[in-house]
Amino acid sequence: MSRRNKITIVGAGNVGATAAHWAAQKHLGDVVLVDIVPGFPQGKALDLAESAPVMGFDLKLVGTNGYDETADSDVVVITAGVPRKKDPVTGKFTSRDELVEINRKIVGGVTREIASRSPNAVLICVSNPLDAMCHVMYEESKFPRERVVGMAGVLDTARYKTFIAEALGVSVDDIHGMVLGGHGDTMVPLPTHTSIGGIPLTELLPQDKIDAIIHRTRNGGGEIVGLLGYSGYYAPAASTVAMVESIVRDRKRVLPCAALLRGEYGYHDLFLGVPCVLGKGGVEKIIEMKLGDKEKAMLEVSAKAVREVVAILPYGQNAQAAT
Ligand code: NAI
Ligand code: 2OP
Repeated sequence: MSRRNKITIVGAGNVGATAAHWAAQKHLGDVVLVDIVPGFPQGKALDLAESAPVMGFDLKLVGTNGYDETADSDVVVITAGVPRKKDPVTGKFTSRDELVEINRKIVGGVTREIASRSPNAVLICVSNPLDAMCHVMYEESKFPRERVVGMAGVLDTARYKTFIAEALGVSVDDIHGMVLGGHGDTMVPLPTHTSIGGIPLTELLPQDKIDAIIHRTRNGGGEIVGLLGYSGYYAPAASTVAMVESIVRDRKRVLPCAALLRGEYGYHDLFLGVPCVLGKGGVEKIIEMKLGDKEKAMLEVSAKAVREVVAILPYGQNAQAAT
């Protein structure tokens, strides 16, 4: 009998459970949900499995607090960790970088469990601070760089496209563009590489409106935290599932993802959001697009912000400046 794709999602919380839901709905493969809270992943998986007769998917959905059930996964998504929250007293949000200390221990431990049981999997990092956690997954798994990739650019780009579509009153389907760089306030939306049905964005919107969209995109995560009191998960889960789909179906989509750069864009040993071709092998290619001087300068600001967080990690010293 042929074997279905096997997708493990660690962290059955908001992003993890929603990603499991959409992965199942898209028939991407059997799903194993892992979480440390007893009963939680089992409950989520059972609830989801019970929706199968209504939704019409024939997949195996398993919830567990252990890792044996994850063995030989094709793709593993790691969402385990602590999310951004709004302090009810001060009203201040947890910054992504404040999460580094706690999440690096969680992500490191999870990665070791996964890597020993699924040595050929492609690992997708979702936990924040995203770019730094990719370094943790890369170092702890000892996987080749092609098989460790971070989800942020797809989400940041989705937010950017949503705001452009809203400003122009057109379909989101016809907007093409990308947000590069780290997953933080210094991310790099690229308006000069954005088009609507082939028409440059700069011809359709005045600069002040574009600037406002860039500002809103950079603060997109915080805007949701401000409204909900915790971070968003529909768009993050949808973005993660787009990456899982491109990998398991070998679609070779060009998606902005955090990839380990080895000279691309002038950076070495640093995870940064760049256009990647995602297929069965993971990051099968990093596309080096031509950036203008202003865009290069913005990418450097973003890379510097990522490097500062990576430097806190025990293996962060390898991350080099642009050459
Ligand atoms: P959540 O709190 O709803 O879910 C996290 C889950 O991880 C919880 O169920 C928790 O029990 C579990 N967990 C904690 N330690 C664990 C361990 N050692 N092993 C297994 N499971 C463990 O949080 P949410 O909203 O799902 O976010 C998850 C992570 O993703 C956060 O770090 C958040 O900041 C990040 N995130 C990243 C995005 C991106 O664009 N890269 C977008 C949205 C969230
Ligand atoms: C987001 O951008 C919190 O990183 C998460 O929604």
